[in-house]
Amino acid sequence: MSRSNPRRRRSRPSLNSNELVDPMIVRILGSAAGGGFPQWNCACDNCRGVREGLINASPRTQESVCLSADDGGWFLINASPDIHSQIESFGPLHPRGSRTSPIQAIFLTNGDLDHCLGLLSLRENHCLVVYATESVRRGFTEGNVLYRTLQRFANQVTWRTLKLGVEEPLLRADGRPSGLTVKAIAVPGKSPIHLEGLVSPGDPEINVGLRFRQYGNGRVLAYLSAVGRITLSVVEGLEGADCVMFDGTFWSSDELSAPGFLQKTAEGLAHWPVGGPEGSLAKLSKITAPRRLFIHINNTNPMLREDSPERMIVEATGWEVARDGMEIRL
Ligand code: MLT
Ligand code: MN
Ligand code: ZN
Repeated sequence: MSRSNPRRRRSRPSLNSNELVDPMIVRILGSAAGGGFPQWNCACDNCRGVREGLINASPRTQESVCLSADDGGWFLINASPDIHSQIESFGPLHPRGSRTSPIQAIFLTNGDLDHCLGLLSLRENHCLVVYATESVRRGFTEGNVLYRTLQRFANQVTWRTLKLGVEEPLLRADGRPSGLTVKAIAVPGKSPIHLEGLVSPGDPEINVGLRFRQYGNGRVLAYLSAVGRITLSVVEGLEGADCVMFDGTFWSSDELSAPGFLQKTAEGLAHWPVGGPEGSLAKLSKITAPRRLFIHINNTNPMLREDSPERMIVEATGWEVARDGMEIRL
C-alpha cells in the first residue's frame, strides 16, 4: 500500500492517534488442504461436482496467505505446491524490476509438503528468507537431496528461527522493520507423514500457529491452520485477535473413513473437525473476533458447498469459509 492510498482507513485507536496507519492487508492465495479442490485423483461428489460445474462451490488451491503492513513488502504464510499460480494471481506479489520480488520472507507453519514444496519452486537464482522453528527447518533441510537446489550459491536461503511464545519484530529481507510483529505458538499437530518415525511426535515445534500484530494500530491476525486438538493454549492463541484463520480441514471425524478413502479419523490426522457437539465451531463459541474464517479445507468437506446445511451452520455462527482471492484489511 502506498501512504497516499485512498482506501486506507483509520480502523481503531492507533498508538499514535494523530497519524493514519496503513492497515494490515491479508490476502488468501489458497484455501484448500493438501491436494487442493478438486484433487487430481478424486471424483468424490465435491470434486466431480466442482469439476463439472454441478455444485455451488469454487475450486481452491492449497493453503497459502500473504500479508503486508507497509508499502509493498509481502510475507507469505506457507509455500504451497501451487505457489507459481498463486503469485501470478495477485499483482502486488509480482516483481517490480527484473529478477526481484516483493516477497520479503516465507513462514512455514509445519513441515507438511502442502506447506513446504513450493519453496523448491522458488529456485531461480534468488535469495529467500524463511521463518520456521528449528524442528521444521531440520525436517526440510536434513537428508533432503532436493534441498540442494536451494544451495546453489552461498546464502541462497536465510533461515530465521521462530521461537515459541516470543513476540518479535517481523523484519523485511534486508532487516528493516515491516510494521508487524510475529509470535509463534505451539499447537497440537503431527509430524509430516514423510518424517514419521524420524521426528518425535511430541516435539512442540513440529506445528505452530502464528500471531501477527500491526503495531501501528494494534490489530492482530491469529493464524492456526492445523489444529489437532483444542487446548487452552489454542484458545489463548486466538483470544483478542481481530481476525482468526483456523483449521477447517474436515467437517466430521469420519469424513475420510466413511467413504472408504482412508481408515483414519480427522483427529488421527491432527485436524480437529469443525462440526458436531465437540467440533471447533462449538468449542470456539467464545471467540468473538470480528472476522473468523476456516482455512485449509479438504475437498471432502461439505461446507465447501455454498448451499449445504453445514455451510449454513458455519455462517449462522458468524464464521466464514475462506476462498482463494479473499482479502481482509485489519
Ligand atoms: C495434513 O494437512 O495433514 C497434510 O497436508 C497431510 C499430507 O501431507 O498429506
Ligand atoms: Mn495439509
Ligand atoms: Zn474429493
